[in-house]
Amino acid sequence: MACRWTNDLTLADSTPEAAFWNRRQIMAGLAGAGLAAALGSPARAEEGLEPNSWEEVTSYCNFYEFGTGKGDPSKYADRMTTKPWSVKIDGLVDRPGDYSIEQILGAMTLEERIYRFRCVEAWSMVVPWQGFELADLLNMAGVQDGAKYVGFETLYRPSEMPGTAYKVLDWPYREGLRLDEAMHPLTIMATGIFRKPLPNQNGAPLRLVVPWKYGFKSIKSVVRITLTDQEPPASWNMANPREYGFYSNVNPNVSHPRWSQASERRIGGGLFARRQPTLMFNGYEDEVAVLYKGMDLGENF
Ligand code: MTE
Repeated sequence: MACRWTNDLTLADSTPEAAFWNRRQIMAGLAGAGLAAALGSPARAEEGLEPNSWEEVTSYCNFYEFGTGKGDPSKYADRMTTKPWSVKIDGLVDRPGDYSIEQILGAMTLEERIYRFRCVEAWSMVVPWQGFELADLLNMAGVQDGAKYVGFETLYRPSEMPGTAYKVLDWPYREGLRLDEAMHPLTIMATGIFRKPLPNQNGAPLRLVVPWKYGFKSIKSVVRITLTDQEPPASWNMANPREYGFYSNVNPNVSHPRWSQASERRIGGGLFARRQPTLMFNGYEDEVAVLYKGMDLGENF
């Protein structure tokens, strides 16, 4: 049984959503061992980060299938039909098939995770997600021995996605993780934010969230998950492998070829707010550094 990990973060009092939440409720939802481990890390406990507002999280988005402007997804993503929805799970699994969203949700335990979210473009937010561990879904399908990687694919439906008329990326949007990253307890499939169903622009009805990696790894509106023994194709990596590595772990010491990753602009901080330092693995170093032991993170960026 994996431990449940999260951060000791508090919710903004200023948002109406905060009415649903209080810190004790969040704490109460956590299993003891994992929580103790998480709070043992001084970098975390002292912070008491506040989530961004609903408005910020749902209107400042990247979802290129609906356009490249930050406001395009909130304008156009309601064109996407999310019912019915199913996820094809195939490749090296014991029980391949098309799993309906109802079937998936019926089998999973939803929980709350308040995570830092750091985009490769050097802006960041704090988002209160609801979802379940990806490991639980993969175990439902039964991961076979030879599997080493997990590939993901977003819905590709040009009639509902005006941004796909442009070849900004090679559609469908694709991403991938190493199997141990996918099975890590911090890796979740999100179904909601602020205890409401995910808005389309944030990747309804089901999107990946990998909090220690740059945001583009957190692929939205997932329709296919494939277990393989080969590194799967990843859209940004295919578009520009020099700028977007397969790993894309948040790392303040490894610059993007065109900008530094040492600091970030927190969305909602105001125009003149000081940039804040970017944390190694986005602040999740204690939990995930072990996955990359012995690896050269400059080479494997
Ligand atoms: N998933 C798909 N299918 N298409 C996208 O364009 N953008 C990525 C990621 N997932 C993207 C995607 C990028 S660059 C970021 S930063 C996050 O989604 C943004 O998530 P948010 O809009 O919920 O903050």
